[in-house]
Amino acid sequence: MTLKIYNSKQELADRFADFFFHFSKSKEEVYVSLSGGSTPRVFFESLTERYGSKIDWKKIHFYWGDERCVPPAAEESNYKMTRDFLLSKVDIPDSNIHRIKGENRPDEEAIAYAELLEENLPSKNELPYFDLLILGMGDDGHTASIFPHQIALWESDKYCEVAKHPETGQNRISLTGKVINNAACVVFLVTGQSKAKKLKEIIREEGAYTGYPATLVAPGSGNLIWFLDKEAASQLDSAG
Ligand code: 6PG
Repeated sequence: MTLKIYNSKQELADRFADFFFHFSKSKEEVYVSLSGGSTPRVFFESLTERYGSKIDWKKIHFYWGDERCVPPAAEESNYKMTRDFLLSKVDIPDSNIHRIKGENRPDEEAIAYAELLEENLPSKNELPYFDLLILGMGDDGHTASIFPHQIALWESDKYCEVAKHPETGQNRISLTGKVINNAACVVFLVTGQSKAKKLKEIIREEGAYTGYPATLVAPGSGNLIWFLDKEAASQLDSAG
């Protein structure tokens, strides 16, 4: 596990854009699973501004680690956020973009997306194999769309599960632990003071850390990198 701590959300975004650019040159074809929420937006803006014309987007294949069960044009859609801040600004073939169809029946889409992963991704350990899998972490320690109240979904033998947001009840489609932990490289992007307590518990294996789905992210490759801003990391360096 590697921790990279930056002074601001913007600096984190810029450094992860640098990381992504170099990562994109490491292979002929690069299979990437994207996260949702607000943090990736700053990264997408930095990536398009600084590397939009330098990356060979034809070799980059985008998937999602989770999606809200809403139409693709809905403000809450992770796909819409990605389209608005990244996909619409770079020369990437539509055929390289594999969104989770939030407009479909959740139970059917969870099956369909699992089949899509099976058909389109390389395989390792007889599982879909991502080169780079990007995650965020919620204030409650959730990751992708596996929330603490449904942490058992992490251990599902399926590649994708239907999850439910604990407050809103919104249906989500999420990758499960077996796919997430099979990735070659897993990167967390975590910013803000609201994440600091959970992050300390997870990194130091203290408190109720076993109840947080983010704790379960442990890729077999050993390649787990936390990109943090100093607010999110503020309790990591406190004595004691
Ligand atoms: C989602 C995300 C979710 C997100 C975390 C962090 O669909 O909301 O996939 O797991 O990464 O909630 O979100 P922020 O980046 O907004 O803090």
